[in-house]
Amino acid sequence: MSTDLATFIRGLPKAELHLHIEGSLEPELMFELAQRNRIALPFDTVEAIRAAYAFSNLQDFLDIYYQGAGVLQTERDFQDLTMAYFRRLHADGGVHAEIFYDPQTHTDRGQPFSVAADGILAGMQQAEDELGVSSKLIMSFLRHLSEEAAFETLKQAEPYLDRFVGVGLDSGEVGHPPSKFANVMKACRERGLLINAHAGEEGPPEYVYEALDILGVDRIDHGNRALEDPALTRRLVDMGITLTVCPLSNLSLCVVRDLKDHPMKRMLDLGLKATCNSDDPAYFGGYLAENYLRTAEALGLTRDDLATLARNSFSGSFLGEAEKAKHIAAVDAYVAASASGTV
Ligand code: HPA
Ligand code: ZN
Repeated sequence: MSTDLATFIRGLPKAELHLHIEGSLEPELMFELAQRNRIALPFDTVEAIRAAYAFSNLQDFLDIYYQGAGVLQTERDFQDLTMAYFRRLHADGGVHAEIFYDPQTHTDRGQPFSVAADGILAGMQQAEDELGVSSKLIMSFLRHLSEEAAFETLKQAEPYLDRFVGVGLDSGEVGHPPSKFANVMKACRERGLLINAHAGEEGPPEYVYEALDILGVDRIDHGNRALEDPALTRRLVDMGITLTVCPLSNLSLCVVRDLKDHPMKRMLDLGLKATCNSDDPAYFGGYLAENYLRTAEALGLTRDDLATLARNSFSGSFLGEAEKAKHIAAVDAYVAASASGTV
């Protein structure tokens, strides 16, 4: 007898390519850290926090998300946060993750640059040692702030650049196009960093063009609205650009009205290199496996589709070619074993 869909998904080797570590802060840990650091929270209970997570757009979410991150004070807090995420990922059958963090969220409240960076890197090392899950770190610039502020962050990051695989661009998209960060992203590329940008989540297809043409991105985060432009869609297919798509995030932030309207199936059918990710799982109601499962149920994704998403997560990763090939072979072996009923 074949395994049920949830079991199949959990056993499928997969990578997560779009995860903001601050967005994995569960209310329970938020309370624990608030107590540890003697910080007052505007909520009395975990339930009250969860009840506040009803968003109608990206900015609604960002306001609460930046406030929540205020409980993260010490290296240990960041390490605990990071390790809590990796335990969830491991339980979901995730074997590799490329995670974002926002240095400016922390330095702008007076924290030295080293606190978040050292804490997250320590958590990543612990996950590798204790769970065998590999990872890479991407620092993101907040696009609602100036390019000058991003340059200042890059300067502070200098001692860490060999431990960052790339840079990203996140926060409120509309009104802050990729072109605003053309110079700083060029400087990042010259330092050997790979380039990511959130584009086409709420912003128009023009922002996706800018991410490609002005920033020269290696990956697009979200990219949903690229589908509004057939020429752009063709270009993304031809270039083989990976899109880090986040279905439950899209549902929570009203990018789609219902998961049944989600473009994931259409993206795969068009030949786009889509991947499935959780974005900010503590806020959007599901980690990696839940994103695969609920999307599969809503859209009728086949096991072949799910295996394609898993293969894309490795081929679109920033791992070396040999490691990509090893993980993709593991996906193939799992799918074959699953089809023959041996798992
Ligand atoms: N979009 C933009 N900025 C973000 C997001 C997102 O989905 N999550 C965390 N910061
Ligand atoms: Zn994101």
